[in-house]
Amino acid sequence: MNHFLDIHKTDAAALRGMIDQAGAMKQARLGRPKAAPDDDQPLKDHMVALIFEKPSTRTRVSFDVGVRQMGGQTMVLSGKDMQLGHGETIADTARVLSRYVDMIMIRTFDETILTEMAEYSDVPVINGLTDRTHPCQIMADVLTYEEHRGPIKGKKVVWTGDGNNVCASFLHAAGQFGFDLTFTGPAQLDPEEEFMGLARQKGSKITIERDPFKAVEGADLVVADTWVSMHDSQSAKERRHNMLRPYQVNADLMSHAKPDALFMHCLPAHREEEATSEVMDGPNSVIFDEAENRLHAQKAVMRWCLGV
Ligand code: CP
Ligand code: NVA
Repeated sequence: MNHFLDIHKTDAAALRGMIDQAGAMKQARLGRPKAAPDDDQPLKDHMVALIFEKPSTRTRVSFDVGVRQMGGQTMVLSGKDMQLGHGETIADTARVLSRYVDMIMIRTFDETILTEMAEYSDVPVINGLTDRTHPCQIMADVLTYEEHRGPIKGKKVVWTGDGNNVCASFLHAAGQFGFDLTFTGPAQLDPEEEFMGLARQKGSKITIERDPFKAVEGADLVVADTWVSMHDSQSAKERRHNMLRPYQVNADLMSHAKPDALFMHCLPAHREEEATSEVMDGPNSVIFDEAENRLHAQKAVMRWCLGV
Protein backbone atom coordinates (compact mmCIF):
# COMPACT_ATOMS: atom_id res chain seq x y z
CA MET A 1 0.00 0.00 0.00
CA ASN A 2 1.31 3.43 -0.97
CA HIS A 3 0.07 6.89 -0.01
CA PHE A 4 0.39 9.57 -2.68
CA LEU A 5 0.98 12.62 -0.51
CA ASP A 6 3.52 14.63 -2.46
CA ILE A 7 5.79 14.38 -5.48
CA HIS A 8 8.99 14.83 -3.44
CA LYS A 9 7.88 12.07 -1.07
CA THR A 10 7.38 9.58 -3.92
CA ASP A 11 10.18 7.57 -5.51
CA ALA A 12 11.33 9.12 -8.82
CA ALA A 13 11.23 5.77 -10.68
CA ALA A 14 7.69 5.20 -9.43
CA LEU A 15 6.68 8.66 -10.66
CA ARG A 16 8.15 7.94 -14.10
CA GLY A 17 6.31 4.62 -14.16
CA MET A 18 3.01 6.39 -13.39
CA ILE A 19 3.50 8.94 -16.18
CA ASP A 20 4.31 6.20 -18.70
CA GLN A 21 1.37 4.07 -17.59
CA ALA A 22 -0.97 7.08 -17.73
CA GLY A 23 0.08 7.73 -21.33
CA ALA A 24 -0.46 4.10 -22.29
CA MET A 25 -3.87 3.96 -20.60
CA LYS A 26 -4.88 7.16 -22.39
CA GLN A 27 -3.88 5.68 -25.76
CA ALA A 28 -5.80 2.50 -25.04
CA ARG A 29 -9.00 4.50 -24.54
CA LEU A 30 -8.80 6.65 -27.67
CA GLY A 31 -12.15 7.00 -29.40
CA ARG A 32 -14.09 5.21 -26.68
CA PRO A 33 -17.08 6.75 -24.87
CA LYS A 34 -16.22 8.24 -21.49
CA ALA A 35 -18.10 5.62 -19.50
CA ALA A 36 -16.75 2.64 -21.43
CA PRO A 37 -14.84 0.40 -19.02
CA ASP A 38 -11.10 -0.08 -19.46
CA ASP A 39 -10.22 -3.52 -20.82
CA ASP A 40 -8.66 -4.59 -17.55
CA GLN A 41 -10.66 -3.61 -14.51
CA PRO A 42 -7.94 -3.00 -11.91
CA LEU A 43 -10.29 -1.33 -9.42
CA LYS A 44 -13.05 -3.93 -9.72
CA ASP A 45 -14.79 -4.32 -6.34
CA HIS A 46 -12.91 -1.30 -4.92
CA MET A 47 -14.65 1.58 -3.19
CA VAL A 48 -12.95 4.99 -3.18
CA ALA A 49 -13.94 7.90 -0.92
CA LEU A 50 -13.43 11.36 -2.43
CA ILE A 51 -13.51 13.99 0.33
CA PHE A 52 -13.75 17.67 -0.50
CA GLU A 53 -13.28 20.38 2.10
CA LYS A 54 -12.87 22.96 -0.70
CA PRO A 55 -14.68 23.40 -4.04
CA SER A 56 -13.54 21.43 -7.10
CA THR A 57 -14.58 20.72 -10.67
CA ARG A 58 -11.63 18.89 -12.26
CA THR A 59 -10.45 16.88 -9.26
CA ARG A 60 -13.96 15.77 -8.37
CA VAL A 61 -14.98 14.70 -11.86
CA SER A 62 -11.66 13.24 -13.00
CA PHE A 63 -11.25 11.03 -9.91
CA ASP A 64 -14.86 9.90 -10.08
CA VAL A 65 -14.73 9.05 -13.80
CA GLY A 66 -11.27 7.46 -13.46
CA VAL A 67 -12.36 5.09 -10.71
CA ARG A 68 -15.45 4.09 -12.67
CA GLN A 69 -13.48 3.47 -15.88
CA MET A 70 -11.25 1.13 -13.87
CA GLY A 71 -14.24 -0.78 -12.55
CA GLY A 72 -14.42 0.69 -9.06
CA GLN A 73 -17.05 2.73 -7.24
CA THR A 74 -16.85 6.14 -5.61
CA MET A 75 -18.40 8.03 -2.79
CA VAL A 76 -18.07 11.81 -3.05
CA LEU A 77 -18.17 13.40 0.40
CA SER A 78 -18.26 17.02 1.43
CA GLY A 79 -16.10 17.62 4.49
CA LYS A 80 -18.65 19.97 6.00
CA ASP A 81 -21.36 17.31 5.90
CA MET A 82 -19.15 14.78 7.69
CA GLN A 83 -18.53 14.58 11.44
CA LEU A 84 -15.01 15.65 10.47
CA GLY A 85 -16.42 19.13 10.13
CA HIS A 86 -18.05 18.91 13.56
CA GLY A 87 -15.07 18.01 15.68
CA GLU A 88 -14.48 14.29 15.09
CA THR A 89 -10.73 13.89 14.92
CA ILE A 90 -8.92 13.23 11.67
CA ALA A 91 -7.40 10.11 13.21
CA ASP A 92 -10.79 8.64 14.13
CA THR A 93 -12.22 9.57 10.73
CA ALA A 94 -9.30 7.82 9.02
CA ARG A 95 -9.69 4.67 11.12
CA VAL A 96 -13.44 4.53 10.49
CA LEU A 97 -13.23 5.16 6.73
CA SER A 98 -10.56 2.44 6.45
CA ARG A 99 -13.21 -0.07 7.53
CA TYR A 100 -15.50 0.88 4.62
CA VAL A 101 -13.40 1.96 1.67
CA ASP A 102 -10.25 0.81 -0.14
CA MET A 103 -8.74 4.26 -0.80
CA ILE A 104 -9.25 7.88 0.26
CA MET A 105 -8.65 11.00 -1.80
CA ILE A 106 -8.88 14.23 0.19
CA ARG A 107 -8.82 17.92 -0.77
CA THR A 108 -8.33 19.96 2.35
CA PHE A 109 -6.82 23.04 3.96
CA ASP A 110 -3.85 22.54 6.27
CA GLU A 111 -1.36 19.90 5.17
CA THR A 112 -1.42 18.29 8.64
CA ILE A 113 -5.01 17.14 7.97
CA LEU A 114 -3.71 15.12 5.00
CA THR A 115 -0.67 13.73 6.81
CA GLU A 116 -2.70 12.77 9.88
CA MET A 117 -5.28 11.08 7.66
CA ALA A 118 -2.47 9.06 6.07
CA GLU A 119 -0.89 8.24 9.42
CA TYR A 120 -4.07 6.69 10.81
CA SER A 121 -5.53 5.24 7.64
CA ASP A 122 -5.12 1.56 6.81
CA VAL A 123 -5.84 2.31 3.14
CA PRO A 124 -3.97 4.55 0.67
CA VAL A 125 -4.53 8.30 0.95
CA ILE A 126 -4.14 10.65 -2.04
CA ASN A 127 -3.53 14.40 -1.81
CA GLY A 128 -6.18 16.15 -3.93
CA LEU A 129 -4.75 19.60 -2.97
CA THR A 130 -3.87 21.25 0.31
CA ASP A 131 -2.97 24.85 1.09
CA ARG A 132 0.65 23.80 0.50
CA THR A 133 0.77 21.41 -2.47
CA HIS A 134 -1.16 19.93 -5.43
CA PRO A 135 0.76 16.87 -6.67
CA CYS A 136 -1.95 15.30 -8.87
CA GLN A 137 -2.05 18.47 -10.96
CA ILE A 138 1.65 18.35 -11.69
CA MET A 139 1.54 14.65 -12.63
CA ALA A 140 -1.01 15.68 -15.27
CA ASP A 141 1.17 18.62 -16.31
CA VAL A 142 4.29 16.46 -16.78
CA LEU A 143 2.22 14.04 -18.88
CA THR A 144 0.87 16.96 -20.92
CA TYR A 145 4.29 18.50 -21.52
CA GLU A 146 5.77 15.20 -22.64
CA GLU A 147 2.85 14.43 -24.98
CA HIS A 148 3.47 17.70 -26.80
CA ARG A 149 7.22 18.17 -26.60
CA GLY A 150 8.90 14.93 -25.46
CA PRO A 151 10.95 14.45 -22.27
CA ILE A 152 10.69 17.31 -19.75
CA LYS A 153 14.12 16.48 -18.36
CA GLY A 154 16.50 19.42 -18.85
CA LYS A 155 13.74 21.85 -19.92
CA LYS A 156 13.17 25.35 -18.53
CA VAL A 157 9.85 25.93 -16.80
CA VAL A 158 8.87 29.46 -15.74
CA TRP A 159 6.34 29.91 -12.96
CA THR A 160 4.69 33.34 -12.97
CA GLY A 161 2.89 35.09 -10.12
CA ASP A 162 2.22 33.55 -6.72
CA GLY A 163 4.61 30.91 -5.34
CA ASN A 164 1.61 28.91 -4.17
CA ASN A 165 0.60 25.25 -3.68
CA VAL A 166 0.70 24.41 -7.38
CA CYS A 167 4.09 26.12 -7.72
CA ALA A 168 5.35 24.03 -4.77
CA SER A 169 4.43 20.80 -6.52
CA PHE A 170 6.11 22.06 -9.70
CA LEU A 171 9.29 22.58 -7.65
CA HIS A 172 9.01 19.04 -6.29
CA ALA A 173 8.59 17.75 -9.84
CA ALA A 174 11.63 19.74 -11.01
CA GLY A 175 13.77 17.73 -8.61
CA GLN A 176 12.17 14.40 -9.40
CA PHE A 177 11.89 14.72 -13.19
CA GLY A 178 15.09 16.73 -13.67
CA PHE A 179 13.95 20.07 -15.11
CA ASP A 180 14.86 23.65 -14.19
CA LEU A 181 12.40 26.20 -12.82
CA THR A 182 12.50 29.97 -12.74
CA PHE A 183 10.08 31.76 -10.45
CA THR A 184 9.01 35.25 -11.42
CA GLY A 185 6.78 37.14 -9.01
CA PRO A 186 6.88 39.61 -6.13
CA ALA A 187 9.24 38.81 -3.23
CA GLN A 188 6.32 38.60 -0.76
CA LEU A 189 4.99 35.61 -2.70
CA ASP A 190 8.18 33.66 -3.25
CA PRO A 191 7.91 29.87 -3.06
CA GLU A 192 9.09 28.19 0.14
CA GLU A 193 12.89 28.10 0.55
CA GLU A 194 12.65 24.50 1.68
CA PHE A 195 11.09 23.40 -1.59
CA MET A 196 13.54 25.37 -3.74
CA GLY A 197 16.37 23.80 -1.71
CA LEU A 198 15.04 20.27 -2.23
CA ALA A 199 14.97 20.74 -6.01
CA ARG A 200 18.48 22.23 -6.00
CA GLN A 201 19.78 19.27 -3.97
CA LYS A 202 18.54 17.00 -6.77
CA GLY A 203 20.50 19.03 -9.32
CA SER A 204 17.78 21.29 -10.75
CA LYS A 205 18.57 24.92 -11.47
CA ILE A 206 16.05 26.94 -9.46
CA THR A 207 16.15 30.68 -10.08
CA ILE A 208 14.24 33.74 -8.92
CA GLU A 209 13.98 36.55 -11.48
CA ARG A 210 11.83 39.57 -10.61
CA ASP A 211 11.64 40.79 -14.21
CA PRO A 212 9.07 38.58 -15.95
CA PHE A 213 10.44 39.39 -19.41
CA LYS A 214 13.95 38.27 -18.45
CA ALA A 215 12.51 35.25 -16.64
CA VAL A 216 10.78 33.81 -19.70
CA GLU A 217 13.84 34.09 -21.97
CA GLY A 218 14.58 30.57 -23.23
CA ALA A 219 11.49 29.13 -21.52
CA ASP A 220 10.08 25.83 -22.80
CA LEU A 221 6.99 26.17 -20.64
CA VAL A 222 5.31 29.18 -19.01
CA VAL A 223 2.84 28.51 -16.19
CA ALA A 224 0.28 30.75 -14.49
CA ASP A 225 -2.21 30.19 -11.69
CA THR A 226 -4.87 32.26 -9.96
CA TRP A 227 -3.66 35.27 -7.99
CA VAL A 228 -5.93 34.42 -5.06
CA SER A 229 -6.08 30.77 -4.02
CA MET A 230 -8.95 29.13 -2.18
CA HIS A 231 -7.08 29.34 1.12
CA ASP A 232 -6.17 33.02 0.70
CA SER A 233 -8.19 35.64 2.51
CA GLN A 234 -10.53 37.54 0.19
CA SER A 235 -9.55 40.72 2.04
CA ALA A 236 -6.07 40.37 0.53
CA LYS A 237 -7.48 40.25 -3.00
CA GLU A 238 -6.88 43.85 -4.03
CA ARG A 239 -3.37 43.95 -2.56
CA ARG A 240 -2.46 40.68 -4.30
CA HIS A 241 -3.85 41.89 -7.63
CA ASN A 242 -1.79 45.06 -7.42
CA MET A 243 1.37 43.08 -6.65
CA LEU A 244 0.76 40.46 -9.31
CA ARG A 245 -0.48 42.51 -12.25
CA PRO A 246 3.03 42.95 -13.73
CA TYR A 247 3.28 39.16 -13.96
CA GLN A 248 0.24 38.62 -16.17
CA VAL A 249 0.93 36.12 -18.97
CA ASN A 250 -0.04 37.93 -22.16
CA ALA A 251 1.05 37.69 -25.79
CA ASP A 252 3.83 40.22 -25.23
CA LEU A 253 5.33 38.15 -22.39
CA MET A 254 4.96 34.88 -24.34
CA SER A 255 6.78 36.45 -27.31
CA HIS A 256 9.91 36.61 -25.13
CA ALA A 257 9.84 32.84 -24.44
CA LYS A 258 10.96 30.21 -26.99
CA PRO A 259 8.64 30.33 -30.03
CA ASP A 260 7.36 26.83 -29.27
CA ALA A 261 7.01 27.42 -25.49
CA LEU A 262 3.85 25.86 -24.11
CA PHE A 263 1.46 27.71 -21.81
CA MET A 264 -0.15 25.93 -18.87
CA HIS A 265 -2.70 26.83 -16.20
CA CYS A 266 -4.22 24.28 -13.83
CA LEU A 267 -7.60 26.07 -14.00
CA PRO A 268 -9.92 27.50 -12.82
CA ALA A 269 -8.59 30.71 -14.37
CA HIS A 270 -9.57 34.33 -14.06
CA ARG A 271 -9.34 35.41 -17.66
CA GLU A 272 -7.60 38.75 -18.30
CA GLU A 273 -6.09 38.64 -14.80
CA GLU A 274 -3.25 36.10 -14.46
CA ALA A 275 -3.43 35.29 -18.18
CA THR A 276 -5.18 36.78 -21.20
CA SER A 277 -7.67 34.86 -23.31
CA GLU A 278 -5.36 35.48 -26.25
CA VAL A 279 -2.75 33.28 -24.56
CA MET A 280 -5.19 30.82 -22.97
CA ASP A 281 -6.90 30.14 -26.29
CA GLY A 282 -3.75 30.59 -28.38
CA PRO A 283 -1.79 27.96 -30.30
CA ASN A 284 0.75 27.33 -27.51
CA SER A 285 -1.84 26.79 -24.79
CA VAL A 286 -2.43 23.23 -23.56
CA ILE A 287 -4.77 24.07 -20.69
CA PHE A 288 -7.56 21.69 -21.68
CA ASP A 289 -5.12 18.84 -22.32
CA GLU A 290 -3.91 19.41 -18.76
CA ALA A 291 -7.48 19.14 -17.52
CA GLU A 292 -8.05 15.94 -19.48
CA ASN A 293 -4.78 14.48 -18.28
CA ARG A 294 -5.85 14.79 -14.66
CA LEU A 295 -8.02 11.77 -15.45
CA HIS A 296 -5.27 9.64 -16.99
CA ALA A 297 -2.51 10.63 -14.57
CA GLN A 298 -4.67 10.00 -11.50
CA LYS A 299 -5.72 6.58 -12.79
CA ALA A 300 -2.05 5.62 -12.81
CA VAL A 301 -1.57 7.19 -9.35
CA MET A 302 -4.49 5.16 -7.97
CA ARG A 303 -3.13 1.92 -9.47
CA TRP A 304 0.26 2.58 -7.90
CA CYS A 305 -1.35 3.31 -4.53
CA LEU A 306 -3.27 0.04 -4.58
CA GLY A 307 -0.56 -1.97 -6.32
CA VAL A 308 -3.00 -3.13 -9.00
N1 CP B 1 -7.02 22.22 -11.17
C1 CP B 1 -7.88 21.77 -10.23
O1 CP B 1 -7.50 21.10 -9.25
O2 CP B 1 -9.18 22.11 -10.45
P1 CP B 1 -10.42 21.94 -9.47
O3 CP B 1 -10.23 22.91 -8.34
O4 CP B 1 -11.60 22.24 -10.31
O5 CP B 1 -10.42 20.52 -8.95
N1 NVA C 1 -3.83 27.63 -6.32
C1 NVA C 1 -5.21 27.26 -6.54
C2 NVA C 1 -5.30 26.01 -7.31
C3 NVA C 1 -6.71 25.55 -7.62
C4 NVA C 1 -6.76 24.24 -8.36
C5 NVA C 1 -5.94 27.17 -5.21
O1 NVA C 1 -5.40 26.55 -4.28
O2 NVA C 1 -7.03 27.71 -5.10
